[in-house]
Amino acid sequence: MTLAQSAASAASASAAAVASQAAAQAASQPDAASAAQPDSQPTAQAGAAAPAPAPVERPLVQYKPKALSLTINGKEVGPLQVPEGLMMIEFLHEYAGLTGSRLGCGQGVCHACVVILDKPDGTSEEMRTCITGAHFFNGRKIRTIEGHAKRNEAGEVVELSPIQQKFLDHFSFQCGYCTPGFVNAATVLLERLKREPVAKADVESTIMTALDGHICRCTGYVRYYEAVKDVVMSTPGLVKDAA
Ligand code: FES
Ligand code: FES
Repeated sequence: MTLAQSAASAASASAAAVASQAAAQAASQPDAASAAQPDSQPTAQAGAAAPAPAPVERPLVQYKPKALSLTINGKEVGPLQVPEGLMMIEFLHEYAGLTGSRLGCGQGVCHACVVILDKPDGTSEEMRTCITGAHFFNGRKIRTIEGHAKRNEAGEVVELSPIQQKFLDHFSFQCGYCTPGFVNAATVLLERLKREPVAKADVESTIMTALDGHICRCTGYVRYYEAVKDVVMSTPGLVKDAA
């Protein structure tokens, strides 16, 4: 071995000895080893539980309950404590257990959600329940799609209303989502024509106007209109100059 080789070998052995000693010292002094870690891992190294996150302040809506009583399909409902501002469609579904009224657009456009409001003067009109608060109906009388057919004492449907039957006869609907709205709209029209009959020449335009706001995404308009015309023309007293 040359002198240079001897010196390199001695240096290497010395370095290994120093490293070995340092490792042994670190193992016997864990706190010191921890202290040497970067600041980015303090809790994991310390073994302490992470602090609970601070509560986030949010502007939660506060619903105030308010009594609501009304008559639905001839039955008195309530008083019930109902959140102020709740839309009528939600009240029907969640409080009254009447799920036949359909929520479509939720914006007052499609008219799938309409119910019939019976007014004190004996007239009736459609009301959109997706944009009308439940408390608007406090003390009022309404009819929903569940109230049209005749039922026996067990609550089973024994006879459809004339308009419901004609919608079936004419295959007016497909998925049926819009049908409760069309039934209510046509019923309001028939009740109006009983009070104010139209001329035969105006029957079609009257039906078009009455059903105009109702959207059918299955596009079954023609058969709806034909069915309503069938009922109008075959019901005595609705058309002034019916043959
Ligand atoms: S759901 Fe009410 S108008 Fe469309
Ligand atoms: S029958 Fe399907 S939306 Fe009218």
